[in-house]
Amino acid sequence: MTVRKVKKDVYSVGVIDWDRRLFDQLIPLPDGTSYNSYFIKGTTKNALIDTVEPEFADELIKNLQDSNVTNIDYIISNHAEQDHSGSISHILDIYPTATVITSEKGKDMLMNLLEIDEDKFKVVGHQDKVSLGNKTLEFIDTPWVHWPETISTFLKEDNILFSCDFFGSHLATSDLFVDNESEVYRAAKRYYAEIMMPFRKIIKSNLVKVNNYDIDIIAPSHGPIYDEPDFILDAYEEWTSDEVKPEVVIPYVSMHGSTEEMINYFVEKLIEKNIKVKPFNMVKMDLGELAISLVDASTVVLGSPTVLTGPHPLAVYVTYLANALRPKTKYVSIIGSYGWAGNLIEDIVEILDNLDVELLDPVVSKGTANKEDYNEIDRLVEEIEKRLK
Ligand code: FEO
Repeated sequence: MTVRKVKKDVYSVGVIDWDRRLFDQLIPLPDGTSYNSYFIKGTTKNALIDTVEPEFADELIKNLQDSNVTNIDYIISNHAEQDHSGSISHILDIYPTATVITSEKGKDMLMNLLEIDEDKFKVVGHQDKVSLGNKTLEFIDTPWVHWPETISTFLKEDNILFSCDFFGSHLATSDLFVDNESEVYRAAKRYYAEIMMPFRKIIKSNLVKVNNYDIDIIAPSHGPIYDEPDFILDAYEEWTSDEVKPEVVIPYVSMHGSTEEMINYFVEKLIEKNIKVKPFNMVKMDLGELAISLVDASTVVLGSPTVLTGPHPLAVYVTYLANALRPKTKYVSIIGSYGWAGNLIEDIVEILDNLDVELLDPVVSKGTANKEDYNEIDRLVEEIEKRLK
């Protein structure tokens, strides 16, 4: 990718991965991503902030060489995950005198993951500073932006926050700075939902920390740069708040149509009551879209038939993920069906042990739903309406 100027003596030298469609062999990336790396030239020292996914190391090195970078004093590793750290060894091969600056936990992880020698590191703590001459880097502890070691780096003279995953978006775009806010909002919310939501309360305290700084620009390590950072700071305030929206998310799976018929009826009744509803057919859905919906929704109703003696395995998978993502959901229920017997409800409830939710009485039909089952769905709709309004 072309090297681009962020501000005087601050350059974007990372790469765009237009084709990537999966992260961690789990998370869909419908819009690709980027691995942003930044080069800062000071009067006495220079620094590289984060690197790139190792398969793109040559492109990063070319970007640096094209910019006539002959020496790197500091490689700042905000986060040890390999999409940002994986090219550090390659950079050290070319610039062997560089010192790797990271947190104590980051050092331990980088030594384990990349086998970098201990004497290459300088460990920094919260609010420690490093001078580049006319520019100063200040490090901010921002842990659990899904890993425990993560820091952010603030370039004081230019008011730029280098936040790595924090505020990032998996979005491959030629825009250096955010151009289309609604497009970036969606991609950033997806990213927050997929990896940061389980740490909502810590992210909230990280927000308080970074809000103490006078930030003009947020330069994350995925997606475009925010030159009007209030937009993403406000979005994070909303996502991490305790407030929920009166929405019902319905992930469901159906084998022979009995569960689906009940879900369709349930969806219609909620719409009649003007309650916002988002059904997701587990067989066809994008996991990221479900995660986005879980950021705000007050209510989740899971639809599943019984397979052998328990829930459908897809329902187990989705319930497990929802539990791991720890959304701020307040109400949960289940709509399902069975052929002869089973522990549909017990098995699902047992998985949801991370969530502090009220379980609304489930509706389970034997075979195809009858009038009594539909009356029960009406009862569930009324219970939800009472709580949401
Ligand atoms: Fe973009 Fe947690 O790595």
